[in-house]
Amino acid sequence: MGRASRDKRDIYYRKAKEEGWRARSAFKLLQIDEEFNIFEGVKRVVDLCAAPGSWSQVLSRKLYLPAKFSPEPMDGDRPLIVAIDLQPMAPIEGVIQVQGDITNARTAEVVIKHFDGCKADLVVCDGAPDVTGLHDMDEFVQSQLILAGLTIVTHVLRVGGKFIAKIFRGKDTSLLYCQLKLFFPVVTFAKPKSSRNSSIEAFAVCENYSPPEGFNERDLYRLLEKVGSPTGEDDLDCHSGWLEGPNKVYIPFLACGDLSGYDSDRSYPLPNVAEGTSYQSLDPVQPPIAPPYKRALEMKKASNLGTRELERLSLDS
Ligand SMILES: C[S@@+](CC[C@H](N)C(=O)[O-])C[C@H]1O[C@@H](n2cnc3c(N)ncnc32)[C@H](O)[C@@H]1O
Repeated sequence: MGRASRDKRDIYYRKAKEEGWRARSAFKLLQIDEEFNIFEGVKRVVDLCAAPGSWSQVLSRKLYLPAKFSPEPMDGDRPLIVAIDLQPMAPIEGVIQVQGDITNARTAEVVIKHFDGCKADLVVCDGAPDVTGLHDMDEFVQSQLILAGLTIVTHVLRVGGKFIAKIFRGKDTSLLYCQLKLFFPVVTFAKPKSSRNSSIEAFAVCENYSPPEGFNERDLYRLLEKVGSPTGEDDLDCHSGWLEGPNKVYIPFLACGDLSGYDSDRSYPLPNVAEGTSYQSLDPVQPPIAPPYKRALEMKKASNLGTRELERLSLDS
């Protein structure tokens, strides 16, 4: 698909470039905020799986920059934003970057160190593995990223804080819902308008972090495994045996963002341009600086050059 054609078919891709966001994902976080007011009172945030950085840009623009340019004297320190990804990210003002794997305990330790004994008010996680197209497999790997995120949450999030995580809707969504409910009394699965209906992606918005009494972070996985088992935790929504029959939990999905706003599954005409000029697609705001497919692109380029050289030689002879 050419860039102009993508501009037409993906309004959020076009708008992201116009508004200076590195990725169209920025709109998902903004639309979640419109519904849940997630930034209210937030001073410290962890952005898990942050590259290329559009969520970090939202955090910087919503939290760090207003505090930096505020004429009012700051009460306390400037907002602290720590972003982690496997991939390196170009710098963003007010965002501390950590390159690492969120499933690795050492990465979690680095994040915790940055908070220097303080706790975060908000943890967001937009992690996604390289999708294989095998839904069960993708959903499983995705759920592992959420559980890694939850592990970090149990170490850094303050009681009362919020956790936003990308999920893949599938047959284990109710299990995940019940697991999250162990830690958050309010869990909503939200589908922002900028997330295509054709995509199985949605977002868990978890509010008011309240770990079970006497909770020890080291017991996290044992606790999660108990959910839904006959000896599992009882919860108003998640009774033992909920996986089967009449006890099965049906989870409502909440659409968020202006519902009369742009539809991510629709094509929109390109903006009118002055007579005699043609539409110019904007360049991406910040291409990834070291994407995993970089070597493949280099090899493709080298092989194209090789082919052209061969063609030239055969024409010369
Ligand atoms: C959809 S992108 C995130 C987009 C980002 N929120 C933004 O707005 O620009 C998913 C990211 O998850 C990262 N990721 C996947 N598995 C990871 C892991 N185990 N640890 C850290 N990052 C991971 C990928 O490198 C990728 O950058």
